[in-house]
Amino acid sequence: MASDSDRSAIIAAAKAARENAHAPFSKFRVGAALQTPEGAIIAGCNIENASYGLTMCAERVAIFKAVSEGKRKFTAIAIVVDTDELTPPCGACRQLIWEFCGDVPVTMANLEGRIETMQMSSLLPKAFDARFLDE
Ligand code: THU
Repeated sequence: MASDSDRSAIIAAAKAARENAHAPFSKFRVGAALQTPEGAIIAGCNIENASYGLTMCAERVAIFKAVSEGKRKFTAIAIVVDTDELTPPCGACRQLIWEFCGDVPVTMANLEGRIETMQMSSLLPKAFDARFLDE
């Protein structure tokens, strides 16, 4: 379980990444950040496109950045959006977070300092993953 200081570091990184969001169509700016066991932090923001379906969520940008840099183990993820009700990861991102991060704590935060952490297994119960491919 991530400590409180780990949690505030990834929240801060997600908040900073959110500033780089390219969201001219939805105006819904999202930042995400992952923590590695060594303490590295990799962040991402959502990147939209005029061809809407090509949009990439902040969580997946962070995961793809990290994996492309050779980072494969993660201990926590934070997601920051400026909504009163804290924004959870979308369904597609839940699948990707499960694949690459497993049952990590998922911290959702907003700009007013509201914070909630849930385990990934409760956000994606009965997940499909590579275990089923071996059967
Ligand atoms: N978005 C994310 O970045 N993460 C999520 O988990 C939910 C949705 C982005 C995609 C799009 O740019 C905008 O939020 C509105 O859906």
